[in-house]
Amino acid sequence: MRILITAGPTREPIDPVRYLSNRSSGKMGYALAKQAIALGHEVTLISGPVSIEPPEGIEIIRVETADKMFDAVKAKINDGDMAIFCAAVSDYRVADIADEKIKKDSNTLTLTLIKNPDILGSARKDFGFSGTLVGFAAETENIDTNAREKLERKDCDFIVANDVSRSDIGFDRDANEVVIYSKDGSATRLELASKDEISRQIIERIS
Ligand code: C5P
Repeated sequence: MRILITAGPTREPIDPVRYLSNRSSGKMGYALAKQAIALGHEVTLISGPVSIEPPEGIEIIRVETADKMFDAVKAKINDGDMAIFCAAVSDYRVADIADEKIKKDSNTLTLTLIKNPDILGSARKDFGFSGTLVGFAAETENIDTNAREKLERKDCDFIVANDVSRSDIGFDRDANEVVIYSKDGSATRLELASKDEISRQIIERIS
């Protein structure tokens, strides 16, 4: 199978030295790419800025902003049979990016933000993707309800949900525990394990 994976955060510039971003190390997306390759799949990884070496044997496209990630996904998604959206995309970008470093001479600074495109939400209706579509949901509360709502709204086949309010799993950790929600209504819990092991199980079950 050919699998497209998005990973890492995006970075939305404020001025030449500052940006808005998300808490994402990219570990989960890179683990998914590594396990997909190990299971014999072909992988295109579209990655925001992270400090992890990509696994051997994949096609990697590096992007900074959500807009650039949107363009890269749009260009590549229909080459694949499955797309897994693991990136923590910034929901907003700065309306007017300053050409010069903003001076800190006032006590408050107001930034106007504009909503970024929903890349996963565009997969079906704008990119016409008909393969298996997998989203991630990082939730701090009402995980079950939010994950099922996201599955419907983004027209996914599966949503992999994790509880990011826990400090032992998730952000920047090597371990994770997730629940896979399926379009058929089922929910499967993958018990606490390394991100590599969780990734192997996700790829195996979903493919
Ligand atoms: O709506 P929320 O951001 O929680 O949805 C998470 C899922 O949507 C993840 O799979 C994430 O990669 C994807 N997403 C996206 N583009 C956005 C926001 C989220 O692809 N702008």
